[in-house]
Amino acid sequence: MADQPPGKPEHVAEFGKSGTPPPAADGRLDAGAFHRNHAPIWAVLWRFLQNRAGDALEIGSGTGQHVVEFARKSPTIVWWPSDHLESHIRSIAAWREHAKLGNVRAPTQLDAGQADWRLAERGMPREFLAMFCANVIHIAPWAVAEGLFAGAGRHLRTDGRLFLYGPFRRDGEHNSPGNATFDANLRRDNPEWGVRDTADLRALAAAHGLRLTEIVEMPSNNAILAFDRKP
Ligand SMILES: C[S@@+](CC[C@H](N)C(=O)[O-])C[C@H]1O[C@@H](n2cnc3c(N)ncnc32)[C@H](O)[C@@H]1O
Repeated sequence: MADQPPGKPEHVAEFGKSGTPPPAADGRLDAGAFHRNHAPIWAVLWRFLQNRAGDALEIGSGTGQHVVEFARKSPTIVWWPSDHLESHIRSIAAWREHAKLGNVRAPTQLDAGQADWRLAERGMPREFLAMFCANVIHIAPWAVAEGLFAGAGRHLRTDGRLFLYGPFRRDGEHNSPGNATFDANLRRDNPEWGVRDTADLRALAAAHGLRLTEIVEMPSNNAILAFDRKP
């Protein structure tokens, strides 16, 4: 099952609630899954980012731990964290302050499901070398996936890449019984949520000028899907 150790809540929409640890005094939240996931995720991102320079946008940064960890390892990349929740923005800002890295920008409150992200008026770059979104689209309405791909279609550089991490159904089939159960539980809790299917994501990407170029299997039946611009 995706990212869930025994005895923990099955999915976390807001850190600091639902039995997850409260924030530290400075506002930093801690996601248990971060500690298990960041190294294998980084190995995949680094294959692309090494020897490149530019801006990277994270959608749904959550606690902010990934962006800080990745920024520490990639001084030629400027990282732009974002999330739609105020409590997560506070945590991202606190992790940024704690890390004191020159290549992490202040977090932006961004609802990825919005049709227009208004990046210019938020003082953000128009184009990104990379976009990274972990564990978001199964725990949000499909409109958020639509907004994500519309944004990637609009704001990825021609040589850019979108990385999606999480559990994914593969062309109509779950890749494990655990993910089938996880999917059913998500949909029971919120009928608008659910493990997304690679076929639907491929079609959505194509509608925005992107194509699914790589599926990298990850621990716990998760995967990273990489999308590039169509040639
Ligand atoms: C399960 S958490 C994952 C957080 C982080 N990416 C990680 O892997 O630790 C899902 C995140 O998606 C964010 N999120 C949900 N809907 C969103 C939306 N419409 N726009 C932006 N972020 C959203 C939540 O606030 C939360 O931070």
